[in-house]
Amino acid sequence: MATRISTVVKRNIDLAYSITILDSLKELRLQADNAVIITDHTVQKLFGNALAATLKCELIAVPPGESSKDIHTFHQICRKMAELSCNRHATIMALGGGVVGDLAGFSAATFLRGISLIHIPTTLLAMVDSSIGGKTGINLPEGKNLIGAFHQPKEVVIPLDCLQTLPDRELRSGLSEVIKYGMIADSEFFCWLEENFDKLLNKDLAALRKAIVTCCQIKSSIVSRDERESNLRQILNYGHTIGHALEALTGYSRFTHGEAISLGMQIEGEIAVLQTGLQRSQLNRQNTLLQRLHPELSQPPFHEKDLLDAMKRDKKSIEGKIVFALPSTIGNMAMENQRYGIVVPQKVIHAALHSNHS
Ligand SMILES: NC(=O)c1ccc[n+]([C@@H]2O[C@H](COP(=O)([O-])OP(=O)(O)OC[C@H]3O[C@@H](n4cnc5c(N)ncnc54)[C@H](O)[C@@H]3O)[C@@H](O)[C@H]2O)c1
Ligand SMILES: [Zn+2]
Repeated sequence: MATRISTVVKRNIDLAYSITILDSLKELRLQADNAVIITDHTVQKLFGNALAATLKCELIAVPPGESSKDIHTFHQICRKMAELSCNRHATIMALGGGVVGDLAGFSAATFLRGISLIHIPTTLLAMVDSSIGGKTGINLPEGKNLIGAFHQPKEVVIPLDCLQTLPDRELRSGLSEVIKYGMIADSEFFCWLEENFDKLLNKDLAALRKAIVTCCQIKSSIVSRDERESNLRQILNYGHTIGHALEALTGYSRFTHGEAISLGMQIEGEIAVLQTGLQRSQLNRQNTLLQRLHPELSQPPFHEKDLLDAMKRDKKSIEGKIVFALPSTIGNMAMENQRYGIVVPQKVIHAALHSNHS
């Protein structure tokens, strides 16, 4: 029952239920001299130990959480790989959420100047976003993802069954990225989300599968046309200019990534109403879904200047000007001067932040 989607990034994405995932992974394992599963302690206990035993490969586990995406843990992984005599034909299997994916992906990009990588994402966010597109990286105390590399996985194998154990908060975090895909690229998919939202919230696997396939197709189609984010890939950043600033200002501990970008999309949607002519009725439809995901979520009290400063420090800002990717309608992103990155005047950001609607 495994479905292989051939994507335009020329990588296979294999969505599978647990019975078939093993066949795919065994086949991939046979192609490597040496395979190492990198995971976190939570996922190790749930699936990692069993998978390592079945595939007869080594396993390296790190503590769960964003703090493992650091230079110290990266160094430990590389030393362990050297100790295990991994050669250029070794393969890293990144089993876990986006933290493991970014850390293991960066290790694969750099160890022996680059070895094969297979993503086996186990959170919804990793299934629809971080395992696709080839971005890998680790954090510095000065900021998130400041060290990194593009390294495309040889394969992405998505074990849908793993979602059964995913905590509700993490499921909802992934669903905000799913809503983002509807907003930036696919109005029909957005309507489907409106109709099937209860199923998604209740972890209906068939509905989740359809959402994941669609998101993977949208993301791989965008990345294949602009891998290095020179223009089109920026549309994936909708909600992220504000979202990343909120994460930074709250020390990456108050919100999950999905919660921060949910708030980000609501505020950036207000900016779009003012800047690109997004209709308020369409913004309301977006906000209805986001608020169903996160009914308790509210903007933290912050000084506007701190938020603006955090946005200016972001990788996406240009010469201190704050850049946004903004929808013009559900499913379409606005362009200014042929560019998807739109510089928005501070007075518009101010108005959106103080709008009675947000
Ligand atoms: N490379 C990219 O393109 C990209 C895109 C988006 C996000 N990211 C990165 O992804 C990270 C966030 O990823 P995330 O939201 O997946 O968080 P995460 O990796 O921290 O996982 C969240 C929690 O869920 C647990 N978990 C994972 N799978 C589970 C399962 N099946 N059952 C039960 N528990 C499970 C983990 O142990 C962890 O505690 C951030 O570091 C972000 O920067 C990268
Ligand atoms: Zn994101």
